[in-house]
Amino acid sequence: MGIVGNPTDARFIQDAFIRLQRDYPWDYAYEEDDLLPEGWSFLGSGMYRAAFRSPDGVCYKVEKNPGSGYGQTNEEEFDNYLNLVRSVTMPEGTRLPAYTFYETGMREGYDGQMHKLGVSAMECIEGKTLSDMEDEGEEGPDDWAIIGKLNRACRLSDIHRGNVMYDGTDYVLVDIGA
Ligand SMILES: Nc1ncnc2c1ncn2[C@@H]1O[C@H](COP(=O)(O)OP(=O)(O)OP(=O)(O)O)[C@@H](O)[C@H]1O
Ligand SMILES: [Mg+2]
Repeated sequence: MGIVGNPTDARFIQDAFIRLQRDYPWDYAYEEDDLLPEGWSFLGSGMYRAAFRSPDGVCYKVEKNPGSGYGQTNEEEFDNYLNLVRSVTMPEGTRLPAYTFYETGMREGYDGQMHKLGVSAMECIEGKTLSDMEDEGEEGPDDWAIIGKLNRACRLSDIHRGNVMYDGTDYVLVDIGA
């Protein structure tokens, strides 16, 4: 797997997100493409991260609440990923995305302290999460079989249907948080 993304775009979206979040604290606002930098779009968000697609089709994830002490940082998540790549054979029909981590500077967190920031750059999966498939009434796979297989192989604590995307061939674990 090659390098995903580049440090310039990682820093760019980190800075753009900090400005955006000041004016629009709620994620649903990011669905309005004209709020985002030209050529960028919003892919989705969870408790900890917001994911954006760059003009050249890379998924960049920024941390929403640095310093909250809540959830793992992007750097910690990338560490989980490297451990999996080294030590786990992914179950048949599932895979990990290509993934690169970029340090992007410092930011004052909720606690008033400065925190090291990092952005995750991931292969952008063209598809939906298992939960979106269900919400949209699509004929889905056996979610629990897939979640079960991923849990047994990866031993992470945050494997749920919002963290697995179907790319038309494989189920891809896009959130490697623990
Ligand atoms: N590689 C990717 N390609 C396309 N979309 C993605 C990708 N990674 C994440 N997304 C979208 O962004 C959303 C949020 O990403 P992610 O799950 O990493 O955030 P999180 O805050 O860590 O989630 P959680 O609340 O599960 O901890 C996903 O549910 C998915 O819709
Ligand atoms: Mg998630």
